[in-house]
Amino acid sequence: MNIESMRGYKMIQKANLLRANNLYPFFRSIEDSEGTVVQVDGIDQIMIGSNNYLGLTHHPHVVESAIKAIEKYGTGCTGSRFLNGNLSIHEELEDRLATYVGHEKALVFSTGMQTNLGSISAICGPKDCLIFDSENHASLIDSSRLALGPTFKYKHNNMESLEQVLAENVNRFNNVWIVTDGVFSMTGELALLPEVVELAEKYGAHIYNDDAHGIGVMGKKGSGTLDHFDIVDRVALNMGTFSKSFASIGGVVTGSADMIDYIKHTARSFMFSASMAPSAVATVAACLDVIEEDNTLHERLWNNVAMMRNGFKEIGFYTYNSQTPIIPIFIGDEMKALMVTNFLKDNGVFATPVLPPAVPKGEALIRTSYMASHSSAELTKVLEVLNMAKKEFDIPATLH
Ligand SMILES: Cc1ncc(COP(=O)(O)O)c(C=O)c1O
Repeated sequence: MNIESMRGYKMIQKANLLRANNLYPFFRSIEDSEGTVVQVDGIDQIMIGSNNYLGLTHHPHVVESAIKAIEKYGTGCTGSRFLNGNLSIHEELEDRLATYVGHEKALVFSTGMQTNLGSISAICGPKDCLIFDSENHASLIDSSRLALGPTFKYKHNNMESLEQVLAENVNRFNNVWIVTDGVFSMTGELALLPEVVELAEKYGAHIYNDDAHGIGVMGKKGSGTLDHFDIVDRVALNMGTFSKSFASIGGVVTGSADMIDYIKHTARSFMFSASMAPSAVATVAACLDVIEEDNTLHERLWNNVAMMRNGFKEIGFYTYNSQTPIIPIFIGDEMKALMVTNFLKDNGVFATPVLPPAVPKGEALIRTSYMASHSSAELTKVLEVLNMAKKEFDIPATLH
């Protein structure tokens, strides 16, 4: 086999170069975790690189519920929902999630990626089309590759560009789907959903919102970006993942009863893949219990986010248009981003860089994100280390 001729070989060359220079920042092996603190190479690090926004991965009720589900149902379902893997707790969870988001019905998948792959390929047949924000998540891009209809892109969060693409295409297709991230996962920016809804209604298009980073976080009790903008009834389909605020793995799509039944019987990543493990289902249900019962959860999250946002302002970082617990730090030079990541690690802070091609060349950043469970002592230490990094590496205060 000739690996060198393969499409991704340049990535391997780059990884080898970084490994040789002790700058490789990926696949760090976590030996132990308490949620906000993890151990790498035997050293404690404060985690500011995860999506555990509500900090529920180690919550006693959540852990106990997962264990009880294993005891009752076993460790796996060993089959698709469609055939032998459909548990009553899958259906109970779907009812709760539909109510939580505010849509009629919900369908849970085994991962968020599978939710997008299955739902989008199901709703976009050969006579339909997709209209994508240019910064949509990789799982949406791969979903568009499975769809039978074409995909057109509009400039990121640019409503003039979206209107132009809509005007050019609405009369050429049966169903036109505008697909966007609700929260953009690298910059923490929100999609301009109220404006997107206005345009969709003007041109008779439908919306698919990927709320992977919004569910659990935005809106009342974290029910998502649709609630945040008060547009729940005006968006046809909304997806969320359980790999972030819901402390587990899996995904959900919500919408009208007809649409969800259609996806249930046509989404191949749903029908031809084993169902969510019982422990994961129980984890998500237990997270919903905590969200319902703990009135301080979101207050703690947003207080932590405010502390970090203010701290970053004082230090003088450029943090894009972040309006969520994801707060990126613009670094610029790729090598500098890698050295800053190493510096953070050496000083007990776990954060990850985002490098080209995930961001444009010269726009490397460090993606940081915060949890309801971070203590103010932990966040104070993070700010101290970042302040040292700012001076050591002359991190810019503006985008260019
Ligand atoms: C915006 C977005 N959509 C979908 C996914 C896929 O979710 P999962 O990790 O549950 O497969 C992710 C995960 O990174 C994401 O950030």
